[in-house]
Amino acid sequence: MMNNLQLNTEGRLKHFLTIEGLSKGLLTEILDLAESFINPIDGRIKTFPLLRGKSIVNLFFENSTRTRTTFELAAKRLSADVLSMSIATSSTSKGESLLDTIRNLEAMYVDMFVVRHGISGAAHFIAEHVGPQVSVINAGDGQHAHPTQAMLDMFTIRRMKKDFSPLKVAIVGDILHSRVARSNIQALNTLGVAEVRVIAPKTLLPAQVETMGVSVSHNLADGLKDIDVIIMLRLQKERMTAALLPSENEYFKAFGLTPERLKLAKPDAIVMHPGPINRGVEIASSVADGEQSVILDQVSNGIAVRMAIMAMAMQWQGGA
Ligand code: CP
Repeated sequence: MMNNLQLNTEGRLKHFLTIEGLSKGLLTEILDLAESFINPIDGRIKTFPLLRGKSIVNLFFENSTRTRTTFELAAKRLSADVLSMSIATSSTSKGESLLDTIRNLEAMYVDMFVVRHGISGAAHFIAEHVGPQVSVINAGDGQHAHPTQAMLDMFTIRRMKKDFSPLKVAIVGDILHSRVARSNIQALNTLGVAEVRVIAPKTLLPAQVETMGVSVSHNLADGLKDIDVIIMLRLQKERMTAALLPSENEYFKAFGLTPERLKLAKPDAIVMHPGPINRGVEIASSVADGEQSVILDQVSNGIAVRMAIMAMAMQWQGGA
């Protein structure tokens, strides 16, 4: 998949479609800008007029709670006009093509589309067809990428651990179907962590997963040794076309993160999950709600990080 579509001729962000191909410097710039939006005293984000007069449309062809809402809040914090289109009641249900829908919205002078779609490559396809003044942000496409989730995960890790270089990060569960795993592996490697370790049954790993720059474990107890950051993943049953697991119960017994297993990681390890979580399937409730969990911090951080990405993609430059 082409990646340089997301950068303009000066190497600045134009669209945000995938982490692949983006430099450590650019990822760090996103994290720094996001940090600058947060008041260090109370942790709140005030409103900035950076995108005043700009129109942003959220186009979510797949369900979402966290991503859609935080994009909308982020756009409002940047003073943009934002609307979230209800796809179920739009004219796509009357047979209008994706491209015709986009062209009609462009005719209403939309400046940015935030797109979630079940098909890998959908956001990239839209970015190839919009006018030069329009930016496209990928809010999750099929099994391919979820780059803004990866950036809010990196932001959360940096806030908790300060320095990426010594970190050993475990990503646990359904790697095969996970766009979050793919984007996180790329971001962690670009930012230079010591190790990215995937922990999963063989049936839930892509072929030749090692080529993605990870080490592999098929045993959760062994795999959690020396780990600083644990990223748990949801079992994506809606994307499973074959019986890849005996049962959810068996999966939890082998790969569920319980308080006992969490003790096998470093004592100050943090527990992350992009959500939605399935309690008792991939993570015990007491871990999800426990002291080492930063799952809700991830959600909060999504606002500042998405503000940074939208501001940069709209060619806003400079300190907040
Ligand atoms: N993490 C994430 O993408 O959650 P939503 O599906 O609720 O947006």
